[in-house]
Formats: sequence, C-alpha cells, structure tokens
Amino acid sequence: MTRKKQAPSLAVWDRQYLWHPFTQMQEWEQEEPLIIERGRGSYLFDTEGNRYLDGTSSIWVNLHGHRHPVLDRALNDQRSKVAHTTLLGLSNPPAILLARELVRIAPRGLTRVFFSDNGSTAVEVSLKMAVQYWKQARPEAGSKHSFVHLKLAYHGDTIGAVSVGNIELFHARFKPLLFPTRAVEPPYCYRCPLNMAFPECRLACLDPVEQVLRDHRQELAGLIIEPLMQAAAGMITQPPGYLKRIRELCTKYEVLLIADEVATGFGRTGTMFACHREGVTPDLMAISKGLTAGYLPLAATMTTEDIYRAFLGKYEEFKTFFHGHSYTGNPLGCAVALANLQVFRKEKTLTRLRSKISLLARLLKPLLHLPHVGEVRQQGFMVGIELVQDRSTKEPYPLEARIGHRVAQEARRRGLLLRPLGHIIVLMPPLSVSVDELTRMVNIVSRSIAAVTEHQ
Ligand SMILES: Cc1ncc(COP(=O)(O)O)c(C=O)c1O
Repeated sequence: MTRKKQAPSLAVWDRQYLWHPFTQMQEWEQEEPLIIERGRGSYLFDTEGNRYLDGTSSIWVNLHGHRHPVLDRALNDQRSKVAHTTLLGLSNPPAILLARELVRIAPRGLTRVFFSDNGSTAVEVSLKMAVQYWKQARPEAGSKHSFVHLKLAYHGDTIGAVSVGNIELFHARFKPLLFPTRAVEPPYCYRCPLNMAFPECRLACLDPVEQVLRDHRQELAGLIIEPLMQAAAGMITQPPGYLKRIRELCTKYEVLLIADEVATGFGRTGTMFACHREGVTPDLMAISKGLTAGYLPLAATMTTEDIYRAFLGKYEEFKTFFHGHSYTGNPLGCAVALANLQVFRKEKTLTRLRSKISLLARLLKPLLHLPHVGEVRQQGFMVGIELVQDRSTKEPYPLEARIGHRVAQEARRRGLLLRPLGHIIVLMPPLSVSVDELTRMVNIVSRSIAAVTEHQ
C-alpha cells in the first residue's frame, strides 16, 4: 500500500507535542506518523483516506468492529443523560445494571464487582483486596501479603502490577520501587525449562509451583496468573489442565487465585472468560480491554461473597476498602459495556466465533513451513508467531534485529496494522472479522514474514 502524504500540521504537531507509549521517540521523530482518523468494522482509515485492517483490535480491545451501531447508540443515549457522576457515595443506573450482567456471565461464584478504569488498576485492586482480605478475614493467619506470579508475566504498568510482572526489558530498572514476590517458571512448552514435552511431562512444571505454595503459604496472599495465555510475554499458551491444577493448588495451600483476564476476557479465547475453559472460578478476577468492546477505558475487579464479606463491619472497625478512582463506574463506559454484552447475545458472537477460530487455525498451518517460524501459538482469537533465527536450534533473533518491527512495517505497507512483541508476531483480529478479512490478514502476515526473514 502506498500512502499519500500526511496533513502537514498534524504530523508536525505530533512530533512536537506528543510522547507515545512504549515508543523510542528519537526514532519516531524521524518518521512520518501514521495518523488514524476513523474506523469502520475491521478497518481503520488514516487522515489521507488510506485503509488498514486492524490486526491488533486496537491493542486487544475491539471486539465487534469499529462504529458498531448498537455501541454508538448506547454511548449517545447515555451522553444525552449525563457523562459522569461518581460512585463514591452515589450510584448510577449503567453501573448497577452492568455489575448485575457481569455477575451473570462471570465464572460461577464471582458475585461482586468493583469498578476502576484500566487493566493495571484492576490488577492493583485485586492485589490490595487480597492483602486486606487476609488481615480482616483471618488475622490469625499472620501476615499474608506476598504474591506468586509466573516469569515473563505482564499485568500492567503501575507499580503494583509491575511488581507481579517479570519482563526484564520493561521492569528491571524499577526494581528498587517494587515489592518482593516469588516468580515461578511459566509453562513455555516450546522452550521447556525442564526439557520435557506435553503431555508426557504430566505438567511437571507445576511441582516447583506447589513447592513455593507449600513452603511460603504463611506469607502468600495470592497467586496471579493470566489464564490460558500469557499474552505480552509472547503469547505463551498454557497446556490443558494447567489452570485447573493451579486452582487446586491455591485452594490446597490457602492462597487466593487472581485471574488477570484483562487480555483473555470477553471471548478472546473462544469462551466468555478463559477461566470458563477449565471450569475454574478464581477468587479475584481483573477485567478491562474488551469490557467496553474497545470504546472507552473501563475496568473491574470481580470477587466472591466470601472476600466481600471480610470487608463488612461497623465504620469504626475501619474494614472499608479505601480505594477508588475519579472515573470509577463512569456511566458512559458502563452504558457501552452493557451494550457490548447485548451484542454478544444478539449476534451470538461466541457461537459464530467457533468456526472462525477453526478457520484461523487452518489458515495459520502453512506458516509453519516458513523457514524462520519456530512456533505458531493460538488460543481462540489470540495468536503469537515466534520467529527464530535458526529453527533447528530455536535460536532467537537478537532484540536489536527488530525482526517483529520490520515484519509489522512490511505488513503495514500491505494494508495490515500489527504490533509485535519483540520477535513474536501477534495477530488479534476483532471477533467480528469476516472470513475474507481474516484470510487476508493471515495472508499478509505470511507474506510479510517471508519478505523480511528470507531476504535479509
Ligand atoms: C494481561 C494484562 N493485564 C493487564 C494489562 C494492563 O492493562 P492496561 O493497559 O489497560 O493498564 C494488560 C495490557 O496489555 C494485559 O495484557
């Protein structure tokens, strides 16, 4: 795709005034920015009218396509009533109705909803709730204030979320600010640290997890995990049975299970929540991204009646959860989230997704014949394609090669927007994508990988 020249002032002002996230601005300042002005369905359009397939669902949030009429209408209807009021000491209809709906669709047993405004804060809330829960529900249990998490985990960018994260490149320099945690090996089967293979391994990687839980149960408030798929880690899929076993271990050693469904929630893995796939109910669940189908920033932490009740008492007992944000339970966000769930029901989104997930798996298969594709990992509509320098040794590309970035640039020229994770090419189509669009997306991914890796 050849792009026409940008509206000059916007490009100049972007470079002059903006600071983009996860972006080396020195490099950005040398380039012509791609400025997206509007969207429709699976497509985004830049200021010059060029059209791109949204291969990241606008960073994993969009579900039903851009400008969905039901979502647009819900937003407009609510805007005509009020844009924002607070949940501190007041309530509002969309927040009440949404909380009720979320309880209906969540894993059984999650009966309370605490709103916040992005994935990181939903995680922060679950960590703080877990610590306060143990203090109030089981003071005799001692000081349970620490957490277990997987290596390579990503739970957001605020300090608590970074503390339970483990991506060296993003997190290392903040170590002095972080609280201590216990990190365990993830089930990264392609690069199994135990040199075993599933299913013969019988999930041997869970033995060290059990050991940590057994040895440190007195200090552990919770174990936090992205169920089924560690997304930002590089789309690392967990083998079947892994999550269920984690649930059993947490119950056995009295450590709360915190499911971070920020990326996996709302149909991404094929079921409404990833936890549903293994029949697991976590003690706390963080949700955001798809909650408003990509319309507005909104998040929630869901929990059980048992945890909720530990915060009840006379005012002077000070068991209150002293946490809240200015935009907690924002009526516009809640109204559009309610409409999102309505679209799921009306359009039978999850049922219709099934055949598209199978099609995606079929479309991805030939990619394994590309000489620099090490592994293709898929959970529903979440895909990670791991590029390697040498397939026989699985030698990764060095970060400096920026192989994923180069593939994304190539894909952009062909009309597809991607955002890789280092050497992992990520494909995250909107759930509403058509068969033709999906086919085109995979085709462009394949040709872009070939163009970059085979002609270096
Ligand atoms: C699993 C997971 N948790 C938390 C977050 C943080 O969400 P946010 O970017 O909305 O703060 C992300 C973001 O990608 C995520 O993938």
